[in-house]
Amino acid sequence: MCGIIGCIGDKNPLPILLDGLKRLEYRGYDSAGVALLSNNTLSVFKKAGKVSELRTSIPAIQQNITAGIAHTRWATHGVPNDINAHPHLDCKNEIAVIHNGIIENYHAIRTKLEGEGHRFLSMTDTEVIAHLIEEMIKYSGDLETAVRLALRQVEGTYGIAVLSSLEPDKIIAARKGSPLLIGVGKNEHYVASDAAAIVHYTRNVAYLEDGEIAVLKKDSFETKTIDNEDIEKQVHQVTIDIAEIEKGGFEHFMLKEIMEQPETLRNSMRGRVLLDVGNAKLSGLQDVLPTLENTQRVIITACGTSWHAGLVGEYMLEQYGRIPVEVEYASEFRYRNPIIKEGDVVFLISQSGETADTLAALREAKHKGAAAFGICNVVGSTIARESQGGVYIHAGPEIGVASTKAFTSQLVVLSLITLMIARQRGLSPEEGKKICQALLDLPDKVETILRNTTEIEAIAEELKDVSNVLYLGRGYNFPVALEGALKLKEISYIHAEGYPAAEMKHGPIALIDENMPVVVIAPKDSTYEKIISNIQEVKARKGIVIAIVNEDDTAIQSLADHLIRVPRTVDFLSPILNIIPLQLLAYHIAVKRGCNVDQPRNLAKSVTVE
Ligand code: G6P
Repeated sequence: MCGIIGCIGDKNPLPILLDGLKRLEYRGYDSAGVALLSNNTLSVFKKAGKVSELRTSIPAIQQNITAGIAHTRWATHGVPNDINAHPHLDCKNEIAVIHNGIIENYHAIRTKLEGEGHRFLSMTDTEVIAHLIEEMIKYSGDLETAVRLALRQVEGTYGIAVLSSLEPDKIIAARKGSPLLIGVGKNEHYVASDAAAIVHYTRNVAYLEDGEIAVLKKDSFETKTIDNEDIEKQVHQVTIDIAEIEKGGFEHFMLKEIMEQPETLRNSMRGRVLLDVGNAKLSGLQDVLPTLENTQRVIITACGTSWHAGLVGEYMLEQYGRIPVEVEYASEFRYRNPIIKEGDVVFLISQSGETADTLAALREAKHKGAAAFGICNVVGSTIARESQGGVYIHAGPEIGVASTKAFTSQLVVLSLITLMIARQRGLSPEEGKKICQALLDLPDKVETILRNTTEIEAIAEELKDVSNVLYLGRGYNFPVALEGALKLKEISYIHAEGYPAAEMKHGPIALIDENMPVVVIAPKDSTYEKIISNIQEVKARKGIVIAIVNEDDTAIQSLADHLIRVPRTVDFLSPILNIIPLQLLAYHIAVKRGCNVDQPRNLAKSVTVE
């Protein structure tokens, strides 16, 4: 996720900014940059790669610097390179902007501004802010009003810091949806996206809220709403240590990433759900819509958790899009000379966009004439670059080796693709609107699950010493059973297997006795009655049943040993809710067993070898 630090005051800001960027590295980034103000002139240095590379690219003779802003970028629009790195400038190199978040209507703003003569250098959404401020200053005459007027025109999310040679005595910061705080020092003020960047210099901070703007000077700061009403800010003391701050106060990155899911789901949907027309808009697939409309067959290929997302995608696309779908492990696909016909569409799902087998599958699919589209998290990754189109999931950097938030965002993107294709193939606008609404409701429902984890922790305590766990699901939740089992084995080293619930009687049932915990995913969908029968089969053999059920479920209560309740949604979105308690269950079991949750033995985050 992008990081922001800015500083104005008596001390030389450059070492402070570079040090702050180092401390933001844990968030994940692909490029970094800095804007410095000295003798009323702006100088900007930016570099793809590490902060250390940025540091060496800055000439040693930087004197009389009075203020600066700096940024680590995690690409969302435009590949990671020097030009797309922040800060971005206006046409006259007088206004520098750094930005976290996504400007949804940047394309329309850019087109308008280009029509008015503005020159754009990068492919980013951020650059429009610099040019909009430049435009607004013509009317307002002052920087603060210009920033306010510019921000009124943008849709989406932002945490920004603005530095200008026109008014060198200030940094302007504003927030909507992306966190920002102000650090109060002695004869200096800071702005940062998280406290880790500045706690070495001050522990006194004021938090900006959405819709607020701050003007930082060397010896003062003031805050207003974006509508120009004054607000008083309380200054708080940050007491937690730096390691804690990096993990957002959570014990592990994996837990942080699980808890982030309401927000990451919102980010995956942002600007893409067209509620009023009951459709989805995915700009990365816009040019290939005819290919998608006419295809007779879809192949989804991936590895690990991404492959499980692909399995859910198969169920979705076949039910709503009425297209035959095959899902295959990338490692198998690449070597078995797959039959691919012209017009076939291949989706490659990969969080990292670098998995060697998935990349090889992409190349094989292209070689055989298929249209190959990536569904990736890391912008500018190899799979994203080599695909002929695709969709970014916008889940932000995932640091825990076991994938969590990327999985739910992959499912959101697959739902959006399904909706788009289904609408092309006859799904009514009314049905489309219901799906859109169900999608938009998901983040709040995930929040409900995350608010009450007491039962999950109690189950984890009971299961922490078992040797095997069986996970069962049907229909859309069969892949969830696979993913729940994968999470447990990856991080707790307990053997776990996922199975389609009805298949249990063709094998795993032989294992069931009073020592065998069986996690059953049993939402009230079209397979509900059948899965109750499967639970009864487990109970008849004295197995321990942990059931994931809907909030209003009454039938399973008397059968199961433990119940975890989740809100209801439409069938095909239920995996996005049902996986959350299973991620938490695996997490708590692993912690109780003393395992290294973020870096499990023998596993790698990005498997770039065969
Ligand atoms: C590794 C990771 C898994 C991930 C898989 C595929 O095995 O540990 O969490 O699901 O790779 O990675 P990708 O980046 O292609 O989604």
